[in-house]
Amino acid sequence: MNVKKMTAASLLSMGLIGSLFTTATFAYEASDQVETVAHRGAAGYAPENTMAAFQKGVDMKADYIEIDVQQTKDGELVVIHDVTLDRTTNGTGYVKDHTLEEIRQLDAGSYFAPEFAGEKVPTFEEVLDEFRGKTGILIELKATYYYPGIEQKVTEALKERNMHLPNNEKIIVQSFEFESMKKMDELLPTVPVGVLTGRATDLSEEKLNEFATYAEYVNPSKSLVNSSLVNEVHERDMGIMAWTVRKKEEVQPLLDAGVDGIITDYPDYPPAHKAE
Ligand code: G3P
Ligand code: CA
Repeated sequence: MNVKKMTAASLLSMGLIGSLFTTATFAYEASDQVETVAHRGAAGYAPENTMAAFQKGVDMKADYIEIDVQQTKDGELVVIHDVTLDRTTNGTGYVKDHTLEEIRQLDAGSYFAPEFAGEKVPTFEEVLDEFRGKTGILIELKATYYYPGIEQKVTEALKERNMHLPNNEKIIVQSFEFESMKKMDELLPTVPVGVLTGRATDLSEEKLNEFATYAEYVNPSKSLVNSSLVNEVHERDMGIMAWTVRKKEEVQPLLDAGVDGIITDYPDYPPAHKAE
């Protein structure tokens, strides 16, 4: 049962309103507002997935920051994009083969520019605590096949903070790993989930129908987005956010297509409203 897609009336009739603290439907609702999502923080202006990049996104008034979540050898959740440390830190090897203490000693800023030397790989909980209420958080679960049980850990971190309650915070959980998102939908039925894809074959009518049974967003690579896809997604009561915008001229075609969100390294690019 997808509780997020049930109306207030149907919830009431089932006596679930009280337990869910909700009076509204969780289905996608059409809006002329386009959400701006600061990809890996404002990754065009600061080292990706660092507190500095997330703060930059907030300063630029992004509606959401996007964060990539993985797990250390000792089971702690950290925010980093690659499954290895090599590209964005002065460490080497897999995230999963290092303890949190080891990872916290690394420099995650110098690869971007000397002025960011000393930036750390943040923990998931640190990001939640610092940025909740200041902006929405689009949480991507990376490479979940390496991290069995990561969905439960994310669930616990959100629940401890009451961030799973309907309409309490702007929280979305997304992944390229569809089974993981099905699991998130079961664990946190009140939090919207999104499926990510860079493959056109994932956007068939059949696949969209399947996504609609558990997801609230289909978030494709910008190269796959056109108005017909946007309509197909909206017809199934889901939203659509496109990634990753890195040039100003990439914005308008996405607005024309009718997307609901633009995931960008430069959150000062997109205008706040869809084209007429
Ligand atoms: O939010 C979408 C986008 O982040 C997916 O791609 O590789 O940048 O995590 P990636
Ligand atoms: Ca991401």
